[in-house]
Amino acid sequence: MVEDRRFSYDGLWGAKAARPAVRGRGAGGTRIDFAGGRPDPASFPYAELAEAARRVLATDGAAALNYGEAQGFIGLRELLAEKYRRDEGARVDPDNFLITNGSAHALQLIVEALVEPGDPIITEAPTWMGAVHAFRVQRAEILTVDLEPDGMNVDQLEDHLRRLKAQGRRAKFIYTIPTFQNPAGMTMPLAKRRRLLELAVAYGTPVIEDDAYGDLRFEGEPQPSLLSLDTEGSVIKMGTVSKILAAGLRIGWIIAPKEAIGHFMTVKLDGGTNPFVSRVAAEYLREHMDGHIADLIGVYRRKRDAMLGTLGEYAPEGCRWTRPEGGFFLWMWLPPGTGLQRLSEVCARNGVGFMPGTACYPDGRGRDAIRLAFSFPTVDEIREGTRLLCEAIREAGTGS
Ligand SMILES: Cc1ncc(COP(=O)(O)O)c(C=O)c1O
Repeated sequence: MVEDRRFSYDGLWGAKAARPAVRGRGAGGTRIDFAGGRPDPASFPYAELAEAARRVLATDGAAALNYGEAQGFIGLRELLAEKYRRDEGARVDPDNFLITNGSAHALQLIVEALVEPGDPIITEAPTWMGAVHAFRVQRAEILTVDLEPDGMNVDQLEDHLRRLKAQGRRAKFIYTIPTFQNPAGMTMPLAKRRRLLELAVAYGTPVIEDDAYGDLRFEGEPQPSLLSLDTEGSVIKMGTVSKILAAGLRIGWIIAPKEAIGHFMTVKLDGGTNPFVSRVAAEYLREHMDGHIADLIGVYRRKRDAMLGTLGEYAPEGCRWTRPEGGFFLWMWLPPGTGLQRLSEVCARNGVGFMPGTACYPDGRGRDAIRLAFSFPTVDEIREGTRLLCEAIREAGTGS
């Protein structure tokens, strides 16, 4: 881009553009990256995806390469509806799906369709930093409920809902990642899921169930999804192929009552999201989904175990961390007095990346914690990086 331009954009940008941009994944060139929730690159099914693309072009090329259906490729929606009926017992059909450009786009559409500046929304905290960004961009009033070892504090949730009602207001939604939460890795048990849904219905506030990681369970008892427990149409669910196939495909979806899908489509301007890639994904998943997910569970379990084992061996006194039963992340509380800034500096020197806890809170908390993604580095890198991180925590704590 030529930079000796005379045209000026000054005064054109709206308030949204004044917000800080979300950083790219794995930015900063760290050698061992525990910061971004990036999938394992060795697990991508390169040959099978190439074969799926070849078949799509041979059999369906003209449709695949043109604008597509506004709601997304019907073949993919049929396949997904069948998956959710089979795996979760959800009462859904293809019309309950809207295909999006990854589930980040799904959330963006949901927020844009529902939230006017100043509207209250409720989220667990800490939470996925992309969600915090989406809420800020739309200038929502962000109300938080604390995350506990078994998911969000539903008493705090009820307090918010009751107070808003007393003010004659209603939250636009409750956002939660109930299974293998990002960033903390915990999973909400059944009783709490039921209570959350009871509150949602009692206060007329929909629940956004963000379920990017639910298929990746390494151990423990699967919990029914909020979508499957819901009998009132109060749950809007988001899903993605990013963590079970490939993030670069940029395929995600919203599952919602048909009326709500219609509203989300009014803020979506493209001519059907990724018609070609949707077909490639459907072609691949039709044949390989279950086997590939089973393989991924093995891959990520080994990685989690490598991180947990190394932390157990090397973590300094005063560190605590979660033990996720699935997903990509664990959350680590640092020994009191550890400087997050100092830790970042030492880790930058050692080539180890992590996500500061502050990035996962909308309100400045999180200075005592970090998020560690074990998904991207190899097992050997995880062992080395975790050991270096532990040394860095020791150094950041002593100020040496
Ligand atoms: C909880 C959660 N939701 C949504 C997303 C967005 O994923 P994508 O847009 O790749 O589907 C992520 C990605 O890291 C995530 O962790």
